[in-house]
Amino acid sequence: MRFTIAIDGPAAAGKGTISKAIAAHFGFAHLDTGLLYRAVGARTLDGTDPIDAAKALTAEDLAAENLRTPEVAQAASRVAVIAEVRAALIDFQRAFAGRAGGAVLDGRDIGTVICPEADAKLYVTASAEVRAERRYLELVGKGHETTRDAVLADVKERDARDAERAEAPMKPAEDAVLIDTSDLAIEAAVQAAIDAVKAQRS
Ligand code: CDP
Repeated sequence: MRFTIAIDGPAAAGKGTISKAIAAHFGFAHLDTGLLYRAVGARTLDGTDPIDAAKALTAEDLAAENLRTPEVAQAASRVAVIAEVRAALIDFQRAFAGRAGGAVLDGRDIGTVICPEADAKLYVTASAEVRAERRYLELVGKGHETTRDAVLADVKERDARDAERAEAPMKPAEDAVLIDTSDLAIEAAVQAAIDAVKAQRS
């Protein structure tokens, strides 16, 4: 059985949490596509050319430590504007999406570019302030030193770059169900997402 769920949305909207929960609920595999861009971005911080890094991406790169830092997130969003970087990552994502047993992919362009034929599409969002507060608590919880203002600035800068780029800009697919998690606790957001997938499935 093949079934693809595309989940897109801006930085720190809760896509990761929702995607993992949906994948567990339906017994599907999950791919966090942001990790691909973060791994490429991380390589550029030690001087590697982004296109070379994207073409030669390995499982080891994806397992690297510290891919979740704001510095790497910024580097990811900078390499993500490069057409050749995005092109180098397409086949892997599409192969994952088509795997037997069902797949959930989360990112920025899954419903629009990577899997326009996805069986279900969600666009998960929340206000910039709510997203920044969640990401701030997550980073501090992991021991990173940062401030609320710095995290809000990172989120806003990446959103602008991701939405305004020419190549696969972040935007909801026309047939995506919008879920605003600003006023939703995690459990309620996950339930809304599962309900939306079931509604699109039937
Ligand atoms: O976790 P968060 O939402 O903050 O970011 P992420 O999903 O890990 O993505 C990091 C960066 O990778 C984004 O800001 C985008 O620039 C880029 N990205 C992309 O361009 N396309 C995707 N499908 C996924 C991520």
